[in-house]
Amino acid sequence: MFNPFKKFTKDIAIDLGTANTLVYTLDKGIIIDEPSVVAINTKTEQILAVGQEAKQMLGKTPPYIQVTRPLTKGVISDYEVAEKMLKYFIDKAREQDRFSGFFRPRVVIAVPLDVTEVEIKAVEDATLAAGAKEVCIIHEPMAGAIGSRLPIQEPVGNMIVDIGGGNTEIAVISLSGVVTWKSTPVAGDEMNRNIIQYAREVFNIFVGEIQAEQIKIKVGSALEKGEQIEFPMKGRDVVSGLPREIMITDGHIREALERSVQTIVDYVKMTLEVTPPELTADIHERGVLLTGGGALLKGLDRVIAKMAEIPVRIADDPLTAVVRGAGILLEDSVLLKEVSLPSARDGK
Ligand SMILES: Nc1ncnc2c1ncn2[C@@H]1O[C@H](COP(=O)(O)OP(=O)(O)OP(=O)(O)O)[C@@H](O)[C@H]1O
Ligand SMILES: [Mg+2]
Repeated sequence: MFNPFKKFTKDIAIDLGTANTLVYTLDKGIIIDEPSVVAINTKTEQILAVGQEAKQMLGKTPPYIQVTRPLTKGVISDYEVAEKMLKYFIDKAREQDRFSGFFRPRVVIAVPLDVTEVEIKAVEDATLAAGAKEVCIIHEPMAGAIGSRLPIQEPVGNMIVDIGGGNTEIAVISLSGVVTWKSTPVAGDEMNRNIIQYAREVFNIFVGEIQAEQIKIKVGSALEKGEQIEFPMKGRDVVSGLPREIMITDGHIREALERSVQTIVDYVKMTLEVTPPELTADIHERGVLLTGGGALLKGLDRVIAKMAEIPVRIADDPLTAVVRGAGILLEDSVLLKEVSLPSARDGK
């Protein structure tokens, strides 16, 4: 429907993730897609960098620069830094629009399924303090399902598996509500730790988080496929303390990631086990949708399909599904009302 006010709407949608924060506006779509990382000068308490620029400083800083990720397992763990980061992103979004300086935006923001009321309040407070006029909170898998255009309002079982940096969240949605769900901290960050641990145990080298992640993305897989891939891995020798380079193969990475992949499969199965049979029948027919960056691990869709015996597909652009869903809700106030969580600030 044509909405004459659309281009004057300054509302924004935010996916405040453990690994990445994305910001969406109605007229421009996704305008910010940056790592949730902040670099602070601890002498002056000033922000030195946010996002990609800050992430590049990880593991390379002198003592007076602190590079932190204000979210852990999907929730705010460092309130002050989270508020600063949100303010930086909200200001950046408003700067891109020459008329928005006068308006404070309404913000739709996604949180994990297992957040407590205190954690919801922290997100609300941080978003308001960062310049929002009003905040609406929605669950991440719900946003991911809406962003992927699943028929969540219908009486059918929609299963979504969101594999982010901090959490894997599995939800079965029907009639605009989450019917059953499970969540585990085994997700992208844990996979990076698996690779670091594997390198130390098997090759006796220490590798950094950034390199572990790059290797996971380049050579990581959940399923063997065709030719062996080799990749150089640089680190510090555990014994000599000197720099050393080894060649790591896709097989090594698969071995390192095996336990995490198995855990994700187990949680999918456990969620199916507690789902009412009518909805399970729908899921078997319609399949499961994977969202979040972890969905891009090569072969993970096929491993889940095989081990949980259900059809699996990967969302189009799984890293942006949540923010696009939150963005759709900016325009659909009826659906937003149906799916948003009660404010933890009410009754104050
Ligand atoms: N091609 C890829 N293969 C494997 N993992 C990937 C790939 N691309 C991105 N990832 C991983 O996806 C994760 C980030 O995904 P995403 O942005 O969905 O997380 P997030 O929303 O910030 O986290 P959360 O939802 O847990 O708070 C990172 O751990 C990243 O390493
Ligand atoms: Mg996420």
